[in-house]
Amino acid sequence: MTATKGLEGIVATTSSISSIIDGVLTYRGINIDELAEHATFEEVAYLLWYGKLPTQSELEGLRSELDAYAAIPGQVIEQIRLYPKDTNSMAALRTAVSSLALYDDAANDMSVEANLKKAIKLQAQLSTIIAAFARIREGQEPIAPKAGVSIAHNFLYMLTGEEPDEIAVKALDQALVLHADHELNASTFAARVTVATLSDIYSGVTSAIGALKGPLHGGANEAVMVMLEEIGSFENVESYINDKLNNKEKIMGFGHRVYKNGDPRAKHLQKMSRELGKLTGNMELYEMSVKIEELVTGQKGLKPNVDFYSASVYTTLKIPRDLFTPIFAISRLSGWTAHILEQYENNRLIRPRAEYTGPASQSYVPINER
Ligand code: ACO
Repeated sequence: MTATKGLEGIVATTSSISSIIDGVLTYRGINIDELAEHATFEEVAYLLWYGKLPTQSELEGLRSELDAYAAIPGQVIEQIRLYPKDTNSMAALRTAVSSLALYDDAANDMSVEANLKKAIKLQAQLSTIIAAFARIREGQEPIAPKAGVSIAHNFLYMLTGEEPDEIAVKALDQALVLHADHELNASTFAARVTVATLSDIYSGVTSAIGALKGPLHGGANEAVMVMLEEIGSFENVESYINDKLNNKEKIMGFGHRVYKNGDPRAKHLQKMSRELGKLTGNMELYEMSVKIEELVTGQKGLKPNVDFYSASVYTTLKIPRDLFTPIFAISRLSGWTAHILEQYENNRLIRPRAEYTGPASQSYVPINER
């Protein structure tokens, strides 16, 4: 038995949800470029869960369900009030999602209908949790979700209590489309491993949030912004990046396990970053990002991934830096739950082997002789 580090190149399951073939990403066979251009996030979530694009009335039906489920239990809000003020936002989300299970009578109902309903419910509630957390830590009251608007609109509204402008809603919605699913990424795999024991959907999503939190995965979008803040201005980009590369440090937002010739999602976020910069009259973050890309790609051959330009996009939308990864979670929840449903449909326990590298045949030594 020989281990493959990081399971690189291992095909661990079959899936009909998303594919990455020759650097092209599709959701249910539809190219991400087309979806980014034309679809709303709700349509994409429907596509991931049901395997087809919704008709107008199916989409209306999903929107009504999302509206009906968007409020979170009062007990979960009361718990969020007890979180320490400096709680990490992904730790807060992980804890709150785990708590949701306590107030859902159907948490352990394993029927297909109950699990699909919980997927939609979680999709509706994630943005409410994050907005409530963001307000409570600032000493503000959470804002109840609004009916009749998109998830992107509702999230921005619940953060500030003000109606977001259309451009901000459109940009966030497109970002949600781009992050919705990505084959067997680390958090999706974590979700599938958890539910393959026939544990419940809340456990699967809680595992996924824990995996997404790390800076080698979803946490990279926040880390990119930390880097941009450390750099401070365009003039400092070159020396900062050269120092990092000379010290063999990683540049967050670059590289990918699967894409070696570029992440197809990055160009959409780059375009969005440029357009938002132009609209707000502040191109500095965009220009700094382009310069970083030029240096890192030029010297290391590494291309930006989905996280790199997300940082400047979200900052231009005035979203606090530590909510970038939770926003990723709002979007990826659709993919996680589609994979969880697929895992339940054709389940087998996921239990690989390990290549043993410890000492060979030792004898037990009684404690008084050690
Ligand atoms: N900056 C500098 N060098 C890098 C970077 C980077 N961002 N990424 C990879 N490298 C280098 C490594 O140091 C390594 O060099 P070496 O062979 O000289 O040791 C080589 O490229 C291979 O890198 P690995 O880390 O082994 O590649 P792996 O496939 O395991 O990792 C990963 C992929 C985790 C994404 C990596 O590129 C990375 O850490 N990137 C930065 C974090 C990041 O942006 N994560 C988000 C990924 S996308 C997502 O999850 C949504």
